[in-house]
Amino acid sequence: MIADVNAEMAGQRNAAKEMVARLRQGDVRALARAVSMVEDRAEGAEDLLAACREHGRRAQRVGVTGSAGAGKSTLVDQMVRWLRREGRTVGVVAVDPSSPFTGGALLGDRIRMQEIAEDVGVFVRSMASRGALGGVARAARDVCDVMDAAGRDAIVIETVGVGQDEVEVSRLADVTVLVLTPGMGDDVQSLKAGLMEAADIFVVNKSDREGADQVVAEIVAMQGLAGEGEGWVPPVVKTVATTGEGVPELMEAIERCGELRRGRNVADSDWMRGLRLDHLGIAVRSITGARGFYEMLGMAVTHEETVKQEQVRVAMLPMGESRMELLEPMAEDSVIGRFLAKRGEGLHHIAVKVVDVDAAFARLKSSGVRLVSEKVGVGAGGHRYFFVHPASSGGVLVEVVGE
Ligand code: CO
Repeated sequence: MIADVNAEMAGQRNAAKEMVARLRQGDVRALARAVSMVEDRAEGAEDLLAACREHGRRAQRVGVTGSAGAGKSTLVDQMVRWLRREGRTVGVVAVDPSSPFTGGALLGDRIRMQEIAEDVGVFVRSMASRGALGGVARAARDVCDVMDAAGRDAIVIETVGVGQDEVEVSRLADVTVLVLTPGMGDDVQSLKAGLMEAADIFVVNKSDREGADQVVAEIVAMQGLAGEGEGWVPPVVKTVATTGEGVPELMEAIERCGELRRGRNVADSDWMRGLRLDHLGIAVRSITGARGFYEMLGMAVTHEETVKQEQVRVAMLPMGESRMELLEPMAEDSVIGRFLAKRGEGLHHIAVKVVDVDAAFARLKSSGVRLVSEKVGVGAGGHRYFFVHPASSGGVLVEVVGE
């Protein structure tokens, strides 16, 4: 039985490798099939994604977001044309979280892209959240990774609204463009704070209309309130997407921002390197009672300490590169005390060590992984850590610690 399963798994991995080889040859039909596979989470999709990700992130990913009616699709058309004139291949992921349809059934104005659609250098895929298992942000990321492996030079991720899903999707991009228009009905302040913060570049589209300068002034005023940040200050670019006015300036701003971000993204993938098991945390009623067995195995308690803020006593027993931690509660109403009351003694958490805990936190969060910690915390001895919820990890609390 096991041998059969292994053979099947090996078969799927080979199929995935073959598929990626076709993608890299520029086979557009293979690209369409691969994108559908990962979007539908079809059998073999995980192997395919793993094979795609072996090629790393190369394409520049640009997110375009903003309210419906801001002219985003027209703007994206212009951006795509600009990129094509530069000789770059493009992937477009159009995400509509409010739509129940998927697989190209939405965004009627895509018909405008007919001319583009006949260009094999442009691959467009529309998707909707209700069809996306595991969330639209994850599905969009997977589709981007496939397009990336297929050698697309640039990927434009267009979202339709301004809700939480759009904020999540915009985090997938290296550079996020927020599109506003004059006379939006209400003003800049009414926009979701998260979306304003996610913006690397503000576009005031339909800037030939009355009130464009007022929107620009509102954005600049809002940036003033936020104070002088470090590094990149999001520029405001005026465009008229229907004529292409301002598009070269927008693309130039994207290039400049992308160059800055590229450094960050290299570091982003670095955190996975050198990943190792740091320790296993075991909840016990009494360290004295539990340590005997481990000492019989030849392990020794090298260090004991009380972590005051967590009301726990910790005994550390090194084991090769990693260690076991016996955790004894100092109070019933502590994390470990409550765990013991509910589940009894046993494995409480596993801890993995990463090179860059901040990058790990940001990447997992943007990928929709459920985190217990709201931010990276500082523990005893100054080590930095955060916790991943068991719901995302197959049922065990995972602690991620930095070097
Ligand atoms: Co721990």
